[in-house]
Amino acid sequence: MSLESTGYKSRRTFAIISHPDAGKTTLTEKLLLNSGAIHLAGEVKERGERRRTRSDWMEIEQKRGISITSSVMTFEHDGLTLNLLDTPGHADFSEDTYRTLTAVDSAIMVIDAAKGIEAQTRKLFEVCRLRDIPIITFVNKIDREARDTLEILDEIMETLALDTAPMMWPVGAGVDFNGLIDLEHGRFISTEGKPEAEAPGIEALAGRFADTQNQQIAASMEGLELASGSLPNFDQAAFEEGTLTPVYFGSALKSIGVRELLEAVCRFAPEPRTQPARPEPVDPSMAACTGFVFKVQANMDPNHRDRVAFVRVASGTLKRGMRLKNVRTGKDLKVANPMFFFARERELADEAVAGDVVGIPNHGTLSVGDTLTEGPDVTVTGIPNFAPELLRRVHLSDASKTKQLAKALNDLAEEGVVQVFKPTLGSGYYVGAVGPLQLEVLTSRAAAEYSVPIRIEPAQYVTARWVKVNDKAQFDKFAALHRLNIAEDRYGDPVFLAPSQWEIDRCAKDFPELVFMATKDRGLAA
Ligand code: G4P
Repeated sequence: MSLESTGYKSRRTFAIISHPDAGKTTLTEKLLLNSGAIHLAGEVKERGERRRTRSDWMEIEQKRGISITSSVMTFEHDGLTLNLLDTPGHADFSEDTYRTLTAVDSAIMVIDAAKGIEAQTRKLFEVCRLRDIPIITFVNKIDREARDTLEILDEIMETLALDTAPMMWPVGAGVDFNGLIDLEHGRFISTEGKPEAEAPGIEALAGRFADTQNQQIAASMEGLELASGSLPNFDQAAFEEGTLTPVYFGSALKSIGVRELLEAVCRFAPEPRTQPARPEPVDPSMAACTGFVFKVQANMDPNHRDRVAFVRVASGTLKRGMRLKNVRTGKDLKVANPMFFFARERELADEAVAGDVVGIPNHGTLSVGDTLTEGPDVTVTGIPNFAPELLRRVHLSDASKTKQLAKALNDLAEEGVVQVFKPTLGSGYYVGAVGPLQLEVLTSRAAAEYSVPIRIEPAQYVTARWVKVNDKAQFDKFAALHRLNIAEDRYGDPVFLAPSQWEIDRCAKDFPELVFMATKDRGLAA
């Protein structure tokens, strides 16, 4: 099928970033409901449940009742095609989440009104900042006890160094919640989330609460007065530069302020951006089709043992049946069955334009970071690998399965479940992860899908650094001195398995021509 709206200028590709429990799932569901993409509340969870039942190979996911795989939801609203990329909320899977953010043009940052900016939100925000991704803020759970509005705005400004332009102003919160003043349109939104027909203006609306005896509401109105003199108005250019965020308030659960947020995405979120690439950036208006893989997911449907690469189209039109070159391998790939993902189902994609995300089933030919193109060779950059926070040794319980182990580790590393490092001396593997859950997933999937029983054991190293070699002779000298600490990642790039941060600092000092990198750009490493 083809999507109704045509041309890349009608695409808005975004993600929701938040700390677990802030309300991302509920908000996703309500955005889909408001756009008419789904009709029943509970659909997203239901979809999640179904997916969970289907993906019963992943026992951990079931046991813990969390979703650790991310997906894409395409829906249409107001003549636009919206591609919402789901970022896994679990803290352990931040690397996967980071990569997803390389494929979006904007993000909604959901904040719990009582908790403010939490750790995960902050981390994700920093990634958005690195890529100048514009952020629309949604302060959720205003139907519950909340922090003072000005305090929340101050916190965003101070901890994220981001200007805030409030677009809504909550009148009270929790049991005292009386509605929202829509500052942009000067109209009132009731506690049911319905905007009033007439728009008397902010002053007149504030006047309604001038004589209130309720302290919380009086404080809200005082805050509004202070804010109107001191906070900037919304400015599209500052928003697109990533220096200002429009701030919406509401309740995802009660569908308050969600319609306005959806409208904000349609009105403010930018069109598909130019992608950083080597040798030249890829502009969405370029005729030749180019796309890049930001995520690979295996066994979405265990009946088919499939492996789906999620490709963000960066330029041109991807047509079903066309041949694209995988620049990394130099091989052509026939895109026979590209898929769009909707709230409920997937469908064959006949045509996709820049900004769209399609799933391409493949048997391991596509890896995260790969660029596909029908034009001259180009490699999209900025898809990072992060130094692992946990480094462990893999113990193979059945020595006859060495080959299967290599395959399992290679496949799962390709999918981004863990990073794999092979020491240049001796046998065995080390695996790196951002959090312990990834290691459990590795063990469970190696056993279930590859019949390889493994045990994860402690390693004598604390982390790994990629080594950028500016001087081969110096690297050889370094490698000779640290023979047991040298490994390769799955792309053959040199890695230093470090026993301590102190050792990394010392080596950096002793070998000034070597750069010890905590992140590696896949595009640059290809
Ligand atoms: P997440 O994806 O960010 O992790 O959050 P999720 O939407 O699952 O929401 C976390 C909890 O917060 C859920 O409650 C959800 O119902 C609640 N919640 C979300 N938005 C709002 C809101 O606007 N107001 C209020 N009062 N609550 C909200 P739960 O009890 O953990 O789960 P459930 O049993 O309701 O599904």
